[in-house]
Amino acid sequence: MTLSGKRQDLLSTLRSRTGLWVSGEELSGGLGISRAAISKHIAAIKELGYAITSAPGKGYLLTEAPDLLLPEEIVFGLATDTIGKVGIVHHHLTDSTNTQARDLARQGAPEGTLVVAEAQSAGRGRKGRSWLAGSGEGLLFSLILRPDMEPSRAALITLMTAVSVAEALIRETGVNARIKWPNDILVGRKKLAGILTEMSMELDAVDYVIVGLGLNINTPPDAFHDEIREIATSVLAEASAPFSRVALLRAILSRFEAHYNTLATQGPESILTRWKALSDIVGRRVRVSMMREDVEGRVIDIDPDGVLLVENDAGESLRILSGDVTY
Ligand code: BTN
Repeated sequence: MTLSGKRQDLLSTLRSRTGLWVSGEELSGGLGISRAAISKHIAAIKELGYAITSAPGKGYLLTEAPDLLLPEEIVFGLATDTIGKVGIVHHHLTDSTNTQARDLARQGAPEGTLVVAEAQSAGRGRKGRSWLAGSGEGLLFSLILRPDMEPSRAALITLMTAVSVAEALIRETGVNARIKWPNDILVGRKKLAGILTEMSMELDAVDYVIVGLGLNINTPPDAFHDEIREIATSVLAEASAPFSRVALLRAILSRFEAHYNTLATQGPESILTRWKALSDIVGRRVRVSMMREDVEGRVIDIDPDGVLLVENDAGESLRILSGDVTY
């Protein structure tokens, strides 16, 4: 259920005065609706999980918001123009937010539409892998984009997302998040987040891009699935403190929109500079596992399309579009 119109305004008023009584008279005057309508809207808001006390002569008191990624929580204080502002779809459980976002994009959903889930039954990672995450512990979301760019440049969206996520994590939580090409966010050798970018083309233009993020936030270290316990980490594990998922989501979306606009108006230079500063891959000796072969060599650079440039031992320069890098 998503609140709309007056109901959202009512929640925003109570939300901005959390812990304080707000009289029914003030609410009904401010919103231009009857006291009976206020009480009906309050009942609907409580159904979402908000704790609201009411008392005759005092009015209404919001004491607690639910720890859910509800649209009404996300938009509260979200400093973006489009990203997450044109529509948010929230699922308690879905197969995969990327799949849901793709379906919406096919039906014409606009750029900036956000699909979030508390849990996924078929979360997808790169190369047919799955993404495993406990319910309500982190962020699982996908964004619909309709960039005006050549398909060969779509890798930049992944790099740009990685920069946005790493910056938001460092700023909001202090964890030492680093980027591993092309789409992993690591702390030390452990993975904190992964990005899955999927694109649909029409002729030679991008129709839509779905960018999906899985980020482990409040997962206790021993709660990770057996398969990933040794290689996964969470903000809680790294910072020894839980963090607000919704606040982190807002911070990521706001960094994302800033970089996305820069990419569209000024090109990739500043994104690539930030990416290189946040990744420690340039200059390193790496092994890249690709579909048909493995390559070893030294990373020379990232090119303006986001392609990894590796010099092998024979001195040849190789352009790596996709693969798994180890170093
Ligand atoms: C990877 O590291 O291989 C990418 C993982 C991406 C996982 C996220 S979770 C939200 C979104 N929905 C999906 O099914 N996948 C992405």
